[in-house]
Amino acid sequence: MLPADLDPSRIPRHIACVMDGNGRWAKQQGLSRTEGHKAGERALFDVLEGADEIGIDWFTVYAFSTENWRRPKDEVRFLINFNEQILLERRDELNERNVRILFSGRRDWRVPKRLIRRMDESLELTQDNTGLTFTIAFNYGGRAELVDAVRCIVESGTPAEKVTEKVIARHLYNPEMPDPDLMIRTSGEYRISNFLLWELAYSELVFSEVLWPDFRREHLYAAIKEYQDRDRRFGGVAGE
Ligand code: IPE
Ligand code: IPE
Ligand code: MG
Repeated sequence: MLPADLDPSRIPRHIACVMDGNGRWAKQQGLSRTEGHKAGERALFDVLEGADEIGIDWFTVYAFSTENWRRPKDEVRFLINFNEQILLERRDELNERNVRILFSGRRDWRVPKRLIRRMDESLELTQDNTGLTFTIAFNYGGRAELVDAVRCIVESGTPAEKVTEKVIARHLYNPEMPDPDLMIRTSGEYRISNFLLWELAYSELVFSEVLWPDFRREHLYAAIKEYQDRDRRFGGVAGE
């Protein structure tokens, strides 16, 4: 199943993805922004299936940021309902594919109880699955995640000298999640936009010009190829 140009011994364990460009895609087609989000669903499930097929263990997507509340009310409402609908419609098929669904993000008063319920149901339904772990970052902000971690650490009464990188990592939303090896952002935007600030410290970043609704597994494989051609040094020296 592996594309011939990919090295099976260097498949990233964790890929994180900023699905961007839905609004611009819709505009190009003369459609409303919400139609762009709808078209993004096909991209997401094609890429997810493609990731699963080549043995990616962790796949994380940015679905809604802590800054996305700034968007027009109607778009925000659409995105909330759309995420709920996707969970309802897709969780059984994901479950059958042995996918474990996780969430990342702040569960504050702005996230409707109904959506939280769908999240908890999806978590529970898939908790024992042993295949790909699919994490949906909703109402997620990298800075908020660090603030929440620090709050927990302070509340637990940990003395300052005991606060280490390991302690911080243990207080992130999903402590067992390995750092992404590869972060992909679509739509030709070259920024992080508050995604996984701590976790991306040594990730390889690949930027694609393709708008998210047009992104398919072939583009994912091309990004992995680019990743495999990089030299990850982690601050060390090449070839040592
Ligand atoms: C990404 O597409 C989806 C979300 C942020 C929810 P955008 O809606 O940001 O699309 P552009 O960037 O405006 O084209
Ligand atoms: C990042 O995209 C958030 C998601 C994809 C959910 P944005 O479109 O919100 O980011 P900016 O505003 O271009 O930085
Ligand atoms: Mg955008």
